[in-house]
Amino acid sequence: MSIAFHAERQSFKLDTAGSSYVIKIHHNGFLSCVYYGAYIPDDNLTDFERRHVYASFSAWPPGTEPYTFTPDTCPMEIGCNGGCDMRQSSVRIRNADGNAVSDFRYVSHRIEAGKPAIPGLPALYENEPGDCETLVITARDETTGAEMDLYYTVFTKHAAMTRAAVIRNDSDKELELEQALSFCLDLNRSDFDLISLHGKHMQERDFCRRPIGHGIQGIYSRRGSSGHQFNPFIALIDRSGNEDNGEAYGFNLVYSSNFKALTEVDYNGSTRVIMGLGDDDFGWRLAPGESFYTPEAVLVYSNEGLGGMSRTFHRLYNENLVRGDWKRRHRPLLINNWEGTYFDFDEEKLFAIAKWAKETGLEMFVMDDGWFGKRDDDTSGLGDWFVNENKIHGGLPALVKRVKDLGLKFGIWFEPEMISPDSDLFRAHPDWAIHVPNRPSSIGRHQLILDMTREDVRDYILGRMYDIISSTGADYVKWDFNRNMTEAGSALLPPDRQKEFYHRYILGVYALIDRLLTAFPHLLLEGCSGGGGRYDPGMMYYSPQIWCSDNTDALSRVDVQFGSSLCYPASVQGAHVSASPRASYETKRNVAMWGSFGYELDPAKISEEARAEIRTQIADYHRYYDLIHFGDLYRLISPWEDPYKAAWQFVDPEKTETLVTVLIKFMMRERNFFLRLKGLDPDAYYRLDENGEVYSGALLMNAGLNLSFMPNEDGFSKTFHFTKVEA
Ligand code: DGJ
Repeated sequence: MSIAFHAERQSFKLDTAGSSYVIKIHHNGFLSCVYYGAYIPDDNLTDFERRHVYASFSAWPPGTEPYTFTPDTCPMEIGCNGGCDMRQSSVRIRNADGNAVSDFRYVSHRIEAGKPAIPGLPALYENEPGDCETLVITARDETTGAEMDLYYTVFTKHAAMTRAAVIRNDSDKELELEQALSFCLDLNRSDFDLISLHGKHMQERDFCRRPIGHGIQGIYSRRGSSGHQFNPFIALIDRSGNEDNGEAYGFNLVYSSNFKALTEVDYNGSTRVIMGLGDDDFGWRLAPGESFYTPEAVLVYSNEGLGGMSRTFHRLYNENLVRGDWKRRHRPLLINNWEGTYFDFDEEKLFAIAKWAKETGLEMFVMDDGWFGKRDDDTSGLGDWFVNENKIHGGLPALVKRVKDLGLKFGIWFEPEMISPDSDLFRAHPDWAIHVPNRPSSIGRHQLILDMTREDVRDYILGRMYDIISSTGADYVKWDFNRNMTEAGSALLPPDRQKEFYHRYILGVYALIDRLLTAFPHLLLEGCSGGGGRYDPGMMYYSPQIWCSDNTDALSRVDVQFGSSLCYPASVQGAHVSASPRASYETKRNVAMWGSFGYELDPAKISEEARAEIRTQIADYHRYYDLIHFGDLYRLISPWEDPYKAAWQFVDPEKTETLVTVLIKFMMRERNFFLRLKGLDPDAYYRLDENGEVYSGALLMNAGLNLSFMPNEDGFSKTFHFTKVEA
């Protein structure tokens, strides 16, 4: 059984494929997490429920026998505000009396098969019956009538669970949410390092590891999107833990807007983790009877270090997050014209690229920015989603037909959430752009943002996209988003609801994408935000691939791919070969093969040699497609361990083949280099494609490959493919 309730001990035990989580209902109704970690068979953890109560001025809550309990020293499932728990809160509700005190206590629970959806929000889902079981605990703040449903879903095939909450106003007075995080978790120790992913445009998801100590450490976004700067992911790992060993806890928020993820080490040496939507400028009015749904957070446990944690995230997301037509189907290998032409193209130039792509073996042509309105650079035209016939002579349906007649699919770029001040749309509807009264709006990349909280705006944009896609038969949309959100307000929201803007905005975006995919269920959506500025599980629910970075220089892009792999699978990672000058086409291919593969160049501008080489690359990618998309990833040498070289490996789930890539970023210092592989069957034998040599799995993993005589040159890279053979 995955979730068990022990009535006598008043505790729940939640088991996943590799972890256990135990919750206690205390005699006074407070809920605490007694244990979260590796799977344990025991269901009696009574001894672990007790905590010191004579502690540092701590107060005892009303209704509690003095000296037996204080939330201040207990691992709490809800971080109530204004009561005895003095740590960071996870929920803050301002009531009709003007205070924000709450004191949530257990009321009831239910255990359900499967996993309920969250209205309006992306969430993981049950893939097959029996995959998931869900515990819903209802707690209530008696004074205000606020109720919380805590949702815990366990996955029976993965060491993973999800958490989310619903807050309900069960009173006759209005309540105002000021904070509504997805979960609060207190771990019984603090000897962890915190890992997070930070970065910027062209350099997303850089790895950061530091010890946690007393006080608060964490990450956040206030940009109106999850952002390039911090990904909504953190992990805690044993101080001595590494890629293969040690306990690691990974936390990832299924949300694409402002967020916060904090760790707090308290005076008892326990660690609180809270994660959820950003509460810096957040408020939500809850009328009597209304409910608020938090986004969902994913919790992964590993006792095989970061590598084990990542592989669990990858399998989970491939099976229980990515969905739709393209979930497990081979997606078309594409060529995109952006880096090849930027805004300087007409229909003949695009057709020439498409023609070459077809001859070379590619499967889809994607027309990027610049095909619509008056858009010859990035200063105008966003919002005017009508083809520019001065560039695409004869119109879009004619061009798409020519490309499709070649036997290619056709993809098209939109930036649906944006509006240029220099556009017909803005001249007609200036109030459709987000803004606040009496204050000029800041401009980013010469553009403003459309108010996606408004239904009329969403209807209009959907209408334009619908016309373009249905009149052309486009197969793919690249959905871009290219600026931070400032002066965030809506002309339609009353002043006391402006604090709801950020959350309402992203709910509007999700609703719009949902309607688009309902209208075109076979459409392949590729997310994008100046590369990987909205590279989060919220977007992955809708777009099975996301353009991971605008950085297409293989030697530095590889770092972005390593960071992204902490929690996101290769299948979602858009990765292209471009004409960037620093690496050979072989190295660019080897790096781009770690993802959803494609090209981003104008073949007319590259050498005949390069064009010939590309022909061979495409066949290779087809051959390794399943291994890369659905195999297990092993990071052999990561940029955060070695600045000179990198190596990574995919192994299929049955351990019958493996693809190893090694890259020399800068000339290595050492001349002898043995690369030890991982994840193979030690008792099996594997043949290396290139020379037919056969090695045992044990040898490859313990002695390694002798790469000492490989060229030690900046930018050199090589792949090795092994297939299991009979001994
Ligand atoms: C940013 C994206 O990341 C690029 O790939 C390209 O689509 C440009 N926007 C177009 O403006």
